[in-house]
Amino acid sequence: MDPESRFLVAVTGASGVEYARRLIEVLGDRTDVIVTKDASAVIEIETGLSVKEFAGRAATFYQGEDLAAPPASGSHLFRALVVLPCSGTTLAKIASGIADNLVTRAAAVALKERRPLILVPRETPSSAIALENQLSLARLGVVILPASPGFYGGPKRISDLVDFIVARILDHLGVEHAIGVRWTGLPE
Ligand SMILES: Cc1cc2nc3c(=O)[nH]c(=O)nc-3n(C[C@H](O)[C@H](O)[C@H](O)COP(=O)(O)O)c2cc1C
Repeated sequence: MDPESRFLVAVTGASGVEYARRLIEVLGDRTDVIVTKDASAVIEIETGLSVKEFAGRAATFYQGEDLAAPPASGSHLFRALVVLPCSGTTLAKIASGIADNLVTRAAAVALKERRPLILVPRETPSSAIALENQLSLARLGVVILPASPGFYGGPKRISDLVDFIVARILDHLGVEHAIGVRWTGLPE
């Protein structure tokens, strides 16, 4: 599949890596995955999977330290970058233009090339620093999509909450899907 029709999913060391595992599962080989060093530790803690197992059917797996990998260059095309979950560290680096690993460099590329960039922060409460970083990026057109699932669909399992967030990401990516719930108004 052409790189330009693929989605780049960057996993950083915030809690909630299950959101990324599910997005990769749904997108399959339409996905290229980057995992930071700290994300590898969280993946092991929260899922018990190796990073290779975690990346599942993704087309390509990149280590976050690999700054020579294709997504480090603007000449490498991708349809959109999703940073999921996005740590406060990675958020701050992206907001200030620091590109010191493959995730922050790919985000800098997405910004300079005006490609869709979705950040899914997972930290609560938010400091003023984190809020300011989110605001400055939102003003540049970045989608800030906090890992904050709604409960109006009557979730029964953790996977329902995960799918709520993954469904919103897929909507923003313009990918048709049948996961999660949509609000259809109050019952008659
Ligand atoms: C188990 C675990 C959970 C963490 N959860 C969060 C979190 O939810 N949000 C966050 O911003 N940082 C969290 N951290 C801290 C980040 O891993 C740390 O700030 C790291 O520098 C992030 O680096 P990265 O963005 O390059 O992956 C967590 C760390 C560990 C070990």
